Amino acid sequence: MTDRHRTEILSADSPESFRQAVEAAAARLRAGEVVALPTETVYGLAAHAFNPAAVRRVYEVKGRPLSNPLIVHVASLDMARNCARVWPPEADLLARAFWPGPLTLVLPKTDLVPPEVTAGLDTVALRWPAHPLIQAVIRACGFPLAAPSANLANRVSPTEAAHVHAQLEGRIPLIVDGGPCTVGIESTVLDLTTSPPCILRPGMIHAEALAAVLGRPVRSEPAKAPAETARPSPGLFPKHYAPAAPVLVLNWKDTPDLCRQLSARGLDPVHAHVLSHTCVPDPAAFTEVRVLPREPEAYARALYACWHRCDRLGARLIIMEAVPDEPAWAGIADRLRRAQGEAH
Ligand code: TXA
Ligand code: MG
Repeated sequence: MTDRHRTEILSADSPESFRQAVEAAAARLRAGEVVALPTETVYGLAAHAFNPAAVRRVYEVKGRPLSNPLIVHVASLDMARNCARVWPPEADLLARAFWPGPLTLVLPKTDLVPPEVTAGLDTVALRWPAHPLIQAVIRACGFPLAAPSANLANRVSPTEAAHVHAQLEGRIPLIVDGGPCTVGIESTVLDLTTSPPCILRPGMIHAEALAAVLGRPVRSEPAKAPAETARPSPGLFPKHYAPAAPVLVLNWKDTPDLCRQLSARGLDPVHAHVLSHTCVPDPAAFTEVRVLPREPEAYARALYACWHRCDRLGARLIIMEAVPDEPAWAGIADRLRRAQGEAH
């Protein structure tokens, strides 16, 4: 059982409140407590990465299986290198190109990183996030922060403080509000312990961008794990990042075509929340129709807030318009596939 907390939300929209929020968060983290902090991708549920008891609290609060490792967030290259037993030249190239930013590197770990963080693996996932708030908190602490996304296990990641509050109110003492996340989906996770490097979870930094920096291709999909062994990255479970309602990803020509496709599946269009970005159907035929941006960065920024809204409204069915099969959309396409619960 997790203890009940009064969950405080601190804003950080003036220099003074920013400083106070950083101090309050750092004090709690030093004391081994768990705190929700903004990053540029999604909000994270942070704990002292070198304090096993604090890290165990994170799993408890989220209801996350202990077999799913956490990302360690740093605020300097030195801090990252202290956590990695091996620091290959490719890690330097990628860090120079993409850090601080939405890229996580998997490397062999040092003994500083307790097995609680890595779920017993010999590797650690490292990221230097770009959001000024979490950077300031890490610097104030002087130690890295282990942080998964600040949602309950198997729910949609939060991109606003209110999303964190809706899921974790009463379970954590503090949420720092750093405004809406500017990237909007979780970081790209790249395994540098394999050759060629392998993307374990696609994000907005896509395979082509990584390959351009490395001067060699990266693999976009991990080798299929034998059925009986653990998956290389538990984030790869097909059903993940999902809103409560069933999600269906479709293409359609026009409103009657979409209605026909739903009826053919035994689904009633009046129960559908339709999230489109190019072919916007007639709102009269559905519960609601929302229009997402056509440009991938803006689409990613808006997506999870739409899914949280569907959860809040008690949606019965969510229809997503399929997105282009292009590198810039690969992270988004992955989240749509997982929300639909489709094996990749
Ligand atoms: O953008 C993000 O990455 C956000 C923010 C808070 O930084 N964090 C996030 O954490 O999405 P989480 O725990 O929800 O996802 C971490 C992913 C999971 O798929 C996990 O399996 C993988 O990283 N991971 C962590 N450590 C790993 C390791 N040692 N080897 C392979 N995969 C690892
Ligand atoms: Mg997550």
